Amino acid sequence: MKFGIITLFPEMLETMKFGVVHRAIQRKILDIVCINPRDYTDDKNRTIDDAPFGGGPGMIMMAKPLDSAICAAKENLPTAKIIYLSPQGKKFDQALAKKIATADSLVMIAGRYDGIDQRIIDEHVDEEWSLGDFVISGGELAALVMIDAIARCIPGVVGDAGSVMDDSFYKGLLKYPQYTRPENYKGRKVPKVLLSGNHGDIAKWRQKHSLGVTWSKRPDILDKKMLSSEEEIVLSEFIKEQQ
Ligand SMILES: C[S@@+](CC[C@H](N)C(=O)[O-])C[C@H]1O[C@@H](n2cnc3c(N)ncnc32)[C@H](O)[C@@H]1O
Repeated sequence: MKFGIITLFPEMLETMKFGVVHRAIQRKILDIVCINPRDYTDDKNRTIDDAPFGGGPGMIMMAKPLDSAICAAKENLPTAKIIYLSPQGKKFDQALAKKIATADSLVMIAGRYDGIDQRIIDEHVDEEWSLGDFVISGGELAALVMIDAIARCIPGVVGDAGSVMDDSFYKGLLKYPQYTRPENYKGRKVPKVLLSGNHGDIAKWRQKHSLGVTWSKRPDILDKKMLSSEEEIVLSEFIKEQQ
C-alpha cells in the first residue's frame, strides 16, 4: 500500500523507520512518501501560512501551496482517497483501519497551526479522520498512528497473522489476559488451564476472558454487539465467577 503524506515536517515521519512498519517498508509492502507544501511556494520566504480573514488568533495554512502539493500527490497516486486529518473528522478505529487496508493507496493531509484553508477541504478532501476528541498540534502524529494501525491489517506486515486477528477490537472484543514466565510471580500464579496444554480448554478460557474483559472495561462495546447465545452463556459464567 502506498501512502502520500502532505506535511510541513517530513522528518516526523522518519519515526516509521522502526519495528513492524519499517520491515514492511523494507519488504516493499508499504511505501510512504512525504510531500512538503513548502516546496510549492513561490516567494523567497517560502511562506505557507497567513492570518485568518475576519481576524482572530492563529495562522492558517494557505490554499495555494497545499493545492499544489495535493495535486503532486494525486499525480503519483491517482486512485488514492484524500484524507484530511482533523479533530472534526470521523473517529478512526480498528474497523476503519481494516477497511482501508484493502486500498492500494491513500493520501493524508497533516494540518498545522490553526488548520487549513476551508477551500482545500472543499476542493480535494474525500474524508476527514480524527484520532479522538482532543486537539494536537499537527496531523503528523495522527498520520503515524493511523498508518501503523492500517499497516498491521495488511497481510504480510505482521509476521504472525493470527496475532493480529486476536488483537483487541479486530473481532469486536478486547483481548484476553496474557502471561509469560515465570509461572509464579510474587505469589500471583498463571491460571492452571494455560499450563495444561489442552488447546480446546485454553481456547474456551480465552473466549470467556475476552468477553469478560470487554464486559468489565468497555461495556459500551457489548451494548452495540449482538452476542450469540453461546457467548451469552459464557459471559454469564464469567460474571458469576466474579461475584
Ligand atoms: C492545532 S490543530 C488545529 C485545530 C483547529 N483549530 C480546530 O479547532 O479544529 C492543527 C492540526 O492538527 C491536526 N489535528 C489536531 N487534532 C487532531 C485530531 N484529534 N485528529 C487528527 N488530526 C488532528 C489537524 O491536521 C489540524 O489541522
